[in-house]
Amino acid sequence: MKRPAHGGDVYAAARELGRHVRHLLDFSASINPLGPSPAARRALGQASELLCHYPDPVCRDLRQALATFWNRSPDEFLIGNGSTELIHLLPAALQIRHLLIVGPTFSEYAAAMARAGGQVSMVMAQRQDGYRPPLEQALAALEKGSRKATGGPPIDAVMLCNPNSPTGQACEAAMVRKLARQAARRGQWCIVDETFADYCEQVSLLRERVPARTIVLRSFTKFYGLPGLRVGYAAGRAAVMRQLTAQQPPWSVNMPAQRAAQLALQDRRHSKRSLRFMEEERARFMKELARLPGCSPFPSAANFLLVELPARLKAARVVSSLKRQGLLVRDCSRVPGLTDRSIRLAVRSRADNDRLLRALSEIIEDSGA
Ligand SMILES: Cc1ncc(COP(=O)(O)O)c(C=O)c1O
Repeated sequence: MKRPAHGGDVYAAARELGRHVRHLLDFSASINPLGPSPAARRALGQASELLCHYPDPVCRDLRQALATFWNRSPDEFLIGNGSTELIHLLPAALQIRHLLIVGPTFSEYAAAMARAGGQVSMVMAQRQDGYRPPLEQALAALEKGSRKATGGPPIDAVMLCNPNSPTGQACEAAMVRKLARQAARRGQWCIVDETFADYCEQVSLLRERVPARTIVLRSFTKFYGLPGLRVGYAAGRAAVMRQLTAQQPPWSVNMPAQRAAQLALQDRRHSKRSLRFMEEERARFMKELARLPGCSPFPSAANFLLVELPARLKAARVVSSLKRQGLLVRDCSRVPGLTDRSIRLAVRSRADNDRLLRALSEIIEDSGA
């Protein structure tokens, strides 16, 4: 059985290479290199008492913790089985038939629309602009697309990933608000995927009241380092959250996951350490990558770097060569809008990053690039 490729399938790689997962270094999924909060780990150690009851179907404690964290009402949150579950709920719950996507970006938005039988249009950031998200173009496309389009239904929603994966580029909150307000004025939805915004909170829409017809998606996978538990959330106006809840299967978030996510959120000390570490190590890793002949890393507001390889090296070849050494990186050559030399690297520990730098340096040297 095959699913569309994302990063993070360490189990497939381990089988293919005949190695234990523990002997792989996964740079393909961007997970906090400091791991989850110690409080969350302790809670998971004691989780067996949570197994003999159904989970809280509406995640009361976690929603209350989010309400306290963001200083708003618990009714403004919906918890999902990872933000991926919520991405897939949206087209049916909001009856989106034609989504405008600001790319190049995460493939799951288009996949969710395809699954729901909807249509997708894209505006693309350009390499020569450092992949700066083209919000002015998105505003124009929304305006034009709100009128009866030729052939398909009018555009009824826009999707922005902020900061964006895999480019790492972030838009200022004021610009995103403008996009959201203009969309709402025309009756269009605005969905902002802030899965990586924990690394640059100043860009988040959650610092103020979320505009009407706007949904913000967040995750406990990346910054909180809990990818295996599957917890994400949507935030927005209470009436919109009720609309989404109606489409969600019951008990989709298990109880150990609810409990660990709550404790991770409340562990401000671990969060501060994680942010400090990322600021320093990302800058160092980027500097070292830029020193490799022909390599161009793009600046990033998240915990990964988009890197363009030297002219003669294709991403697919480098990715498979690194994989043979147990180093998994994300091949972005098939992401529409990126070049066939694009890879995405998670920022991991200093020792892990150095290991990858050595391996990349050897590949580049051997290729004569
Ligand atoms: C931009 C973006 N949004 C959402 C997700 C899904 O995250 P989750 O683990 O919360 O389902 C990912 C995962 O790779 C992602 O990169």
